[in-house]
Amino acid sequence: MKQLKALILAAATVIAAQAYAAADSQEDKIRERIKPVGEVCVGAECGGAVVAAAGPRSGEEVYGAACGACHTAGVLGAPKNGDTAAWEERLAKGIDQTWQNAINGINSMPPKGNCMNCSDDEILAAIKYMSGQE
Ligand code: HEC
Repeated sequence: MKQLKALILAAATVIAAQAYAAADSQEDKIRERIKPVGEVCVGAECGGAVVAAAGPRSGEEVYGAACGACHTAGVLGAPKNGDTAAWEERLAKGIDQTWQNAINGINSMPPKGNCMNCSDDEILAAIKYMSGQE
């Protein structure tokens, strides 16, 4: 009789444990079903790269980031920022040709002033800024 009791107890324990496990997975399923459709994540939590704010940079921003190193002091004969006479001389051949030269590079002026993530329009904005056309 004692043995039977123990057996029933053991069986009951197993059943109870299974019931708990079942309830657990049931709960997971419910959680899955009622979770919000969209989840908000911020920065690194998203697991993806943080996308920089879109939109072109201003001429001043591009100049500060990429052109100033040479065009502030006139390194290697670079026309200086704000030196109207020097820029007028450069622009005498036309803004389009000057722009092309900045994109492709000319003599010691590296292509795009080494600003490889600068768009052509951002280069133009920087030229206008440096030559005082803006
Ligand atoms: C490593 C130095 C350096 C950097 C950085 C640099 N420049 Fe220059 N840039 C020069 C030099 C040197 C010249 C003169 C080249 C020549 O005509 O001999 C020049 C000339 C120019 C000219 C005149 C081209 C022409 O046709 O006369 C433009 C326009 C210009 N740079 C735009 C830019 C812009 C825009 C940036 C930034 C995005 C930039 N540069 C960054 C060195 C630099």
